[in-house]
Amino acid sequence: MIERFETLLKVRIGLEAESVGRVVIERAVRQRMGACGSRDEDAYWTTLNASPGEQQALVEAVVVPETWFFRYPESFAALGRLAFERLPELAGGRPLRILSLPCSTGEEPFSIVMALLDAGLAPGLFQVDAVDVSERVLERARQGIYGRNSFRGDDLGFRERYFLPTGEGYALTRQVGAKVRFMRGNLLDPGLLAGEAPYDFVFCRNLLIYFDRPTQSAVLEVLKRLMQRDGAMFIGPAEASLLSQQGMQPLAYPQAFVFRHAPPQAIARPAKARVPVAAPTVVAPLPSRAPARPRPPLPKPEQLKDASEGAGRDADLANIASLANSGRSEDARAACEAFLNAHGPSADAFYWLGLLSDVAGKVDEAQDNYRKALYLQPQHAEALAHLAALLAARGDRAGAQRLQQRANRGLNNHG
Ligand SMILES: C[S@@+](CC[C@H](N)C(=O)[O-])C[C@H]1O[C@@H](n2cnc3c(N)ncnc32)[C@H](O)[C@@H]1O
Repeated sequence: MIERFETLLKVRIGLEAESVGRVVIERAVRQRMGACGSRDEDAYWTTLNASPGEQQALVEAVVVPETWFFRYPESFAALGRLAFERLPELAGGRPLRILSLPCSTGEEPFSIVMALLDAGLAPGLFQVDAVDVSERVLERARQGIYGRNSFRGDDLGFRERYFLPTGEGYALTRQVGAKVRFMRGNLLDPGLLAGEAPYDFVFCRNLLIYFDRPTQSAVLEVLKRLMQRDGAMFIGPAEASLLSQQGMQPLAYPQAFVFRHAPPQAIARPAKARVPVAAPTVVAPLPSRAPARPRPPLPKPEQLKDASEGAGRDADLANIASLANSGRSEDARAACEAFLNAHGPSADAFYWLGLLSDVAGKVDEAQDNYRKALYLQPQHAEALAHLAALLAARGDRAGAQRLQQRANRGLNNHG
């Protein structure tokens, strides 16, 4: 009778059993039965219903706290630009207000602070609030000490700037830690943060994927209430289509997954003019074509052909990225198919097809495409990260862990 526990979790935190896999819920229930000394499920059910503390403990056992610093790096670059546009509108009247919900163990809100400091904002110009339903993750966030798993990707310069190595891991400096206020809260609570003024920027990433459609719609209303009318919302890649369906407009910051209410003509920016298009080549760089020294020999005709083909590939991938990031999923999918026809099997194209299927909720198809990308390019960082997240969300923690270890090995090999 695991269904009653699933229902309780759905009512309490919105968790849709299928999104994590029933086995994850069963494991959490068994773990809590052991901790409470319950002789069977019925006895535990009685204990659970009589104790709000035990309900919270079950929530703690089931939540997925997966996160890392600068997850979707382009979103933090976009935040820096949006913050600079926003500040003059506030005319020094108040600091920028930013919300990270859910914040998990703190990597997301602290990345927000580091990104804004790196963009040149004085610490007094902004404040970050961070909310999560789990007290356990908040406790870890307040400690501000992080292990290797929190640092992924190639660009780890921020670790030297904002952390100190300690015996236990990397300790966040006070300059960053002091800018975040952590609070416990449940996104399903219609009165969440009721006493707070609306936020200029709301980050709500990788939580809506665990909810069913009616719950997603309900919590989006809560999120809209928490956001200034002319504010912006950052969302996870697999959640972007939901915001488009709700009539929100994607901003033209590739791979940032940021939306706002305003009509398109007021917000559309020429993406190419303002921001370089971030195709997946960012994580899987094409071989650099450094000029030969001391003087580059004249290219042979076949080299000219290779170079122009390379440029054509880059442009096609940039086009796919731009279509996908502006929510034009069908066009992006067609562009991927055309790319594969023109250039043959490509890890990047399969990665994009995987992401597009993920966004559309076609989980099997997404998994298949990520696997094809990894077959062609075993260390494709984005495909590894997304497939790991997908497996974790399906309850295959061992599979997810294996992929993460593989991603970490790749990072180590690249120094
Ligand atoms: C996968 S993490 C996402 C963290 C971060 N936003 C990111 O994208 O890296 C999901 C978090 O959602 C939290 N969570 C689950 N249900 C929640 C709810 N109903 N309200 C608030 N937080 C919730 C979990 O405790 C967990 O820390």
